[in-house]
Amino acid sequence: MDHFSYNSGVLHAEEVPLPAIAAAVGTPVYVYSRATLTRHARVFREALSGIARVEIAFAVKSNPNLAVLRVLANEGYGADVVSQGEMDRALAAGMAAEAIVFSGVGKTGSELSAALDAGIGQFNLESEEEGVELAEIATAKGLRAVCALRVNPDVDAGTHAKISTGKADNKFGVAYDRAAAIYGRLSSLPGLEMRGLAVHIGSQITTLEPSRAAFVKMGELMRAIRVAGHTVSHMDLGGGLGVPYRAGEVLPGPAEYGAMVADVVRDWDATICFEPGRVITGNSGVLITEVIRVKPGASAPFVVVDAAMNDLVRPAMYDAWHDFAAVAPSGERFTAHIVGPICESSDTFAMNRETDRVVAGDLAVFRTAGAYGATMANTYNSRPLVPETMVDGAKWAVVADRIQPATILAAERVPEWL
Ligand code: LLP
Repeated sequence: MDHFSYNSGVLHAEEVPLPAIAAAVGTPVYVYSRATLTRHARVFREALSGIARVEIAFAVKSNPNLAVLRVLANEGYGADVVSQGEMDRALAAGMAAEAIVFSGVGKTGSELSAALDAGIGQFNLESEEEGVELAEIATAKGLRAVCALRVNPDVDAGTHAKISTGKADNKFGVAYDRAAAIYGRLSSLPGLEMRGLAVHIGSQITTLEPSRAAFVKMGELMRAIRVAGHTVSHMDLGGGLGVPYRAGEVLPGPAEYGAMVADVVRDWDATICFEPGRVITGNSGVLITEVIRVKPGASAPFVVVDAAMNDLVRPAMYDAWHDFAAVAPSGERFTAHIVGPICESSDTFAMNRETDRVVAGDLAVFRTAGAYGATMANTYNSRPLVPETMVDGAKWAVVADRIQPATILAAERVPEWL
């Protein structure tokens, strides 16, 4: 459920008509709904109420906007970060350092060092080598790094290949069969406090079975490691729960997911950590765009909008579907290709899409754009970096400026020898 709905024929975010934001900020522009973010954060937490000890670290990568992070900090969420940049954002948003989990396969020495200095709550180690390096850095500082070992359970999440992370050939975590031995070796290092295991098998997972299978395997591993005499007090089950991208699509939601996890972890006697991203932010955002013009095509007209693959890359990168809808629909429908202005054919949002009929100058939205939208934006074709806004009831504010090409140009230099 979200708070984007039509009122008197005009799409609103909560109480704000989207044309008001488009008129003030221009297009394309992202709009987030504070009420939707808060609702999703609460629904997800509530769904886990059958589990005794729970920690939730929002996957910052899905939407790192400072205002979004502040909303989640206010809901008591910690952060799952994968770079120093994300860590700094989580801290700037007011998240407690102890509530930050640092994931990622390529944390650099300087990132490990900065995270230790910041006093983050947990490092999710992705290799034995990383653990050894972190132990050295921590020992030199006279500190002990609190760690979990990320394990690759070799389970197919059944999602798009580019966002699958739990198969043996994916780069993430340590091999399942080697995990117990590595855990034992890392536990003996003075700079580390090994306290748990972590797993994350992929994103936009639309059935519960793969996650259940992975969690069951992780439970078996946890028991084996405990039998070997080591402590496992924390089990991090990652993120990955999918969201509906098409109107009417029904997927297992937080309640079904929470019930499944509660069943699997019933006798684990561990704190269970979660790293949700998309399920919190996905439906909390839309991207407003203006139709530049409609031109004839061989099989259907091309609707050329002013948003492009640099603003919302998911369709180009993962063949992802985002619902497209007019902000003030006429009631007429047609079938069209929806494309951006960038000079390559991958800048296509949809082919042969049955949608609201739009004409030049109309406003429209791509829905479910709050996760992996603005955060993956870039300036390809020397376009501006897309701005972000947040609505709260009848109020709204710009929460990230449009960075103009001139600002980016000003950071470039022509060496004097040219
Ligand atoms: N934890 C870890 C270790 C992750 O790698 C990810 C996402 C998450 C949590 C959050 O997963 P979520 O709950 O959002 O599914 N750009 C892609 C998605 C990449 C996801 C990467 N990892 C997309 O637009 O679909």
